[in-house]
Amino acid sequence: MTKMIKKKLRRSRPAWRGGAVTRLSPGEQDAMRAAGAFAGELLDQVTKIMRPGVSTGELDNLVETLTHERGATSAPHGYRNHGAPPFPSHCCTSVNDVVCHGIPDKARVLRDGDIVNVDVTPILDGFHGDTSRTFLLGENVSQKARQLVADARRALWLGIFAVAPEGRTSAIGSAIQDFAEARGYGVVREFTGHGTGRAFHTAPTIFHYRTPGRGERITPGMAFTIEPMINLGHWKTEVLADGWTAVTADGSLSAQWEHTLLVTEEGVEVLTLGQKEAPPPL
Ligand code: MF3
Ligand code: CO
Ligand code: CO
Repeated sequence: MTKMIKKKLRRSRPAWRGGAVTRLSPGEQDAMRAAGAFAGELLDQVTKIMRPGVSTGELDNLVETLTHERGATSAPHGYRNHGAPPFPSHCCTSVNDVVCHGIPDKARVLRDGDIVNVDVTPILDGFHGDTSRTFLLGENVSQKARQLVADARRALWLGIFAVAPEGRTSAIGSAIQDFAEARGYGVVREFTGHGTGRAFHTAPTIFHYRTPGRGERITPGMAFTIEPMINLGHWKTEVLADGWTAVTADGSLSAQWEHTLLVTEEGVEVLTLGQKEAPPPL
């Protein structure tokens, strides 16, 4: 099989997200609310130590400590996927042209002008809360990078507002792609949002770009993430030799924001909000 065909198959049918969509019972929904709230708290705590001079390894240590203090575990730690070695850390730290799955490292000191995404997924009482934010380091982040980070956040929220009970998951990708491409950005294709709950990654796959099908019908009890990765340049990514770190193929900057959502009879809940978080002006 040629490389091209292999890639296409992987993109259209992520093997680890097969199976049926799970619908959570009211008790399970409460457990998801708690896990989501804790994930949001973790990023609020990360915000407090974020400054030039901090290493991504120190960010990881903080996530590990707070997670264990709460009696929770970190889903990324030891996570296995598509033949890569087990993920070695408690969160992902993706700096500048790293799109996602960057591995924290105490030798990787963040500098004024960097942007870094921190992605956490605690498992609390058996349920996953999955969320990420992209942080600006210091005063010297370029205007283009600031705009990219703000627009990636707007892309996430446009995706969230495209979720309608009894609607289709495909509305999410359409909203995100239309917004991002109109501004000249690339929308990453190789990584997607996903159902989550007792398992980290489940059906449905949430695409951040237009898909030919209509996707899954959105019904009460579904929990899934939206996590668009938006590039200043082309959407294409490459995975480094460590088997995890995904970078933009053209070296351009990339930004990502992620929330876990729960759909109920009442509507859509964003489970992983930070303490002071409100949707951006859209
Ligand atoms: N948190 C990531 C996501 O949003 C997945 C990280 S898997 C890891 O789905 F192994 F890299 F941590
Ligand atoms: Co996720
Ligand atoms: Co995540």
